[in-house]
Amino acid sequence: MTLSLGVLVSGSGSNLQSVLDACSDGRLDAAVRVVVSNKPGVFALERAAKSAVEAITLSHKAFASREAYDGALVEALRARGVDTVVLAGFMRIVTPVLLDAFRGRVINIHPALLPAFPGVDGQRQALEYGAKVAGCTVHFVDAGTDTGPIITQRAVPVLEDDTVETLRARILVEEHKALPAALQWLAEGRLVVEGRRVRVLDAPSR
Ligand code: GRF
Repeated sequence: MTLSLGVLVSGSGSNLQSVLDACSDGRLDAAVRVVVSNKPGVFALERAAKSAVEAITLSHKAFASREAYDGALVEALRARGVDTVVLAGFMRIVTPVLLDAFRGRVINIHPALLPAFPGVDGQRQALEYGAKVAGCTVHFVDAGTDTGPIITQRAVPVLEDDTVETLRARILVEEHKALPAALQWLAEGRLVVEGRRVRVLDAPSR
């Protein structure tokens, strides 16, 4: 089924770009219906405009609670026919108001190999901990912080002379592969959630 995506962002939007590129070159059976940023003026909004995708800024500061903010998000996403929500560098914790409206259809990309290093700055956490392997995780979102069922992970080495920036860049390369791939599996109906485990069914033979 072609996915109707709503992509939520707060920053540069390089993961948004990976999704837009995968849609336009046929690797991902999806259309980005709207990009929503909680911060004005971020580069992700320009990326959306360049791809002729509607982009809106919905500042969390205008709302009294996380639930009220998520209610406005749900309204904006539903109004545009979104069926799947992608958190692509969205620096907000989402509540059951969003999760219940898009049950089983909210996906996050996190720059660490969960369950290690959840929350902010996963790359710095891995480096400072002394991990030798780092990476990224694409997972379904649940009510916890980076705790939902894992769809896919990609690993990279931590090198002796890494800084947070060099490690961040190496992980981002893998993020840009992992997120469109996971979304395509969802589009193909190949993801089966069994408790905490997500089974990726084989691709249908052609
Ligand atoms: C990525 O590292 C993502 O994993 C994390 O925030 C960063 C967003 O980068 N959640 P970008 O805005 O997609 O370039």
